[in-house]
Amino acid sequence: MNRVYFLGAGPGDPELLTLRAARLLADCALVYAPQPFEVTFASHLQGKEVRIPFEFYFAELIEQIKAHLDLGNVAFLVPGDLTFYSPFQALVDHLGERAVVVPGVGTANAAAAHLKRTFDLPDVCNRAIIASPRTLGVDGALTLRQLAAPGVTLLIYMNNLPLPELVDQLRDGYGENVPIVLLHRLGLPGEVVVNGTLDTITGLVGERDFFNLNAPDRRPALTLVVAGKTLDATVDGAWWDYRRDHIWRFRSEGDA
Ligand SMILES: C[S@@+](CC[C@H](N)C(=O)[O-])C[C@H]1O[C@@H](n2cnc3c(N)ncnc32)[C@H](O)[C@@H]1O
Repeated sequence: MNRVYFLGAGPGDPELLTLRAARLLADCALVYAPQPFEVTFASHLQGKEVRIPFEFYFAELIEQIKAHLDLGNVAFLVPGDLTFYSPFQALVDHLGERAVVVPGVGTANAAAAHLKRTFDLPDVCNRAIIASPRTLGVDGALTLRQLAAPGVTLLIYMNNLPLPELVDQLRDGYGENVPIVLLHRLGLPGEVVVNGTLDTITGLVGERDFFNLNAPDRRPALTLVVAGKTLDATVDGAWWDYRRDHIWRFRSEGDA
């Protein structure tokens, strides 16, 4: 049976495609690639028919896919990974056993690697929260202010708030100045990373519209925001040794 592969494609750099995704992609003649993946993945897409999924209504996509499945496999390049804020669930559900989902490198993972930071750090940050202001504060959902509490690393996707407003909400929640980073077009041409604090970030960004708030189409920009104390915390070797003694060390039954 031919399949429709939803391939976690990472933030945009084809080097972050898994070996499994690359192997499956090579076997698909029809590929749906959201912009700018049709450009950054060009070398993987040579000789294939490439379509932009968001140009079609759902029923059109299903019709195209069904027609093609009689001939071979189909692939969707899923930005990042299906885990968070991915619009492909209705297709996956509709296709049932024909759909195969392959994990990829999510933007959160790529951000942690770029920053060389883990997003939870005992004694500094006891939880990391993934959120988008687009879906907060409505229908009883918590607000960004409520989520931005001490001990939280916040990963903010698809921000639609002007930066000064976002900063005000975060300051209210955290109750103090904390580090904040804007990661724009991570792994793509035009990558920019702005590192600051709630006190400095607005000045560092200036007039630059990293969130597409002034663009005519107002599509979510390829910008991830990360805030929280873990961003500039340091840990020393005592952290490691404590865990080595109390958690990791193999104990035999006779050990105290
Ligand atoms: C619809 S969500 C897709 C998230 C994706 N499923 C993932 O796992 O990363 C789009 C949002 O993800 C973030 N994003 C996606 N690609 C990005 C990139 N290359 N650089 C920075 N942020 C990115 C931005 O916050 C953007 O508004």
